[in-house]
Amino acid sequence: MTAPVNRQIVLAARPAGMPKATDFRLETTPVAEPGPGQILVRNIWMSVDPYMRGRMNDRKSYAPPFEVGKPLDGRAVGQVLKSNHPKLKEGAVVSNMQGWREYFVSAGEGITPLDASLPLSAYLGVLGVPGFTGWYGLKEIGKPKAGETLVVSGAAGATGSLVVQMGKILGCRVVGTAGTDEKCAYVRRELGADAAINYKTAGDCVDALREACPKGVDIYFENVGGPILDAVLRLLNPQARIPLCGMISQYNLEIPDPGPRYLFSMIANRALMQGFIISDHFDRYGEFVGEVGGWLKQRSIKSEETVVEGIENAPKAFLGLFSGDNLGKMVVRLAPDPPASDRK
Ligand SMILES: NC(=O)c1ccc[n+]([C@@H]2O[C@H](COP(=O)([O-])OP(=O)(O)OC[C@H]3O[C@@H](n4cnc5c(N)ncnc54)[C@H](OP(=O)(O)O)[C@@H]3O)[C@@H](O)[C@H]2O)c1
Repeated sequence: MTAPVNRQIVLAARPAGMPKATDFRLETTPVAEPGPGQILVRNIWMSVDPYMRGRMNDRKSYAPPFEVGKPLDGRAVGQVLKSNHPKLKEGAVVSNMQGWREYFVSAGEGITPLDASLPLSAYLGVLGVPGFTGWYGLKEIGKPKAGETLVVSGAAGATGSLVVQMGKILGCRVVGTAGTDEKCAYVRRELGADAAINYKTAGDCVDALREACPKGVDIYFENVGGPILDAVLRLLNPQARIPLCGMISQYNLEIPDPGPRYLFSMIANRALMQGFIISDHFDRYGEFVGEVGGWLKQRSIKSEETVVEGIENAPKAFLGLFSGDNLGKMVVRLAPDPPASDRK
C-alpha cells in the first residue's frame, strides 16, 4: 500500500491588491507518524475567511501575518486517524486551526472534540466563527429591540445570513444588502428579510435604503464598509448602534478609501459604533451554540453553504469571497464525511 501524502497550500508571495492564483502554491509532504502523546488528523473540511487576506500582508494586526513559503492556516474540521494521546481517541471528530492542509500531527494544542452528530461543515459556518460573530455582535453591541430597524450588509454571506435571521426572530424590521438580485431574493424569501438591496445596482444606496427603512435605521451590522456605511450613516436614528464586524470592501485596497463622510451623524444622533474581534469572546461560545444550535434543531433558522471540492481549489474558494461567489458559508471539502458509525 502506498503511504498517504499530505497536500497543503503555501503562501508563494505576498499579494499586492487583489490576490492572484500565483500568490499560492500546492505542495506535497510525507504524512508523519504521530510520536508519543501525539495524534494524526485528516482534515475533512476547511474554512476560507475574509480575515485571511489581512494575514497575507506583512503588517502587525490582531492575528499574526502568514509567512511566505510556509503553509497557510485557519479553522478546519478533521478526524483523528491515529492516537497516542491520552484524551483524544481515534475516530474523534475535532475542530482545529490547521486548515489549508490535508493531514497533520499534533500534540493536541488547539484541538477541540466536536459533537459528531451535527453536520461537520456547520462548525465552520453557522455554528462556527461566522455564526458566533454574528450572534455576539448583534446581541452585545447591536442590542436589538422588537420594532427596531436593522440593516445588515453582506446579508447573503455566512455571518450576515445569521444576523438577518436573528433580527427577525427578535422582532426587528430587517433590511439586507447583497451583490446580486438572486442573493437579494434569497435574503428576502429564505432568510425572511423585509427588504433586500442589490448594492451593485442601487447607486449610492441612499434612496433604496430610505425607502426600505421608512422609520430610519436603529442598528447597522457592518460587514463590508465603503459606500454602504456612508449611506446608512445618513439614515441613523437617535441612539443607533453599529457593530463594526468587518469591512471586506477595503481588504484589497492598497490605499484605503477616504471617508466615511457622514460621521457627524454619529454625534447628532448620540450613536454608538463599536468594533469587536470574536476571538476575545470565546468564553461565550457555549452559550452561542446552545441558542443557535437550538434554533437549527427546531428549523427556525437556515444555513446555506457553497462547497468547493479539493485542497487544490482552496485558493480559488478564498478568492471567490471577494467576488461574491459564495451564498452562505464558503467551505472547502478535503475528504468525504466519515460515516456516522466511524465517528467517535
Ligand atoms: N470581527 C470579527 O471577529 C469577524 C469574524 C468573522 C468575520 N468577520 C468579518 O465579517 C464579514 C463577513 O465575513 P464572512 O466570513 O461571513 O464572509 P461572507 O459574507 O460569507 O463572504 C464575503 C462576502 O462579502 C461580499 N463582498 C465581497 N467584496 C465586497 C465589496 N467590495 N463590497 C461589499 N460586499 C463585498 C460578497 O458578497 P456579495 O455578493 O454580497 O458582494 C461575499 O460573498 C467580513 O468583513 C469579515 O472580515 C469579522
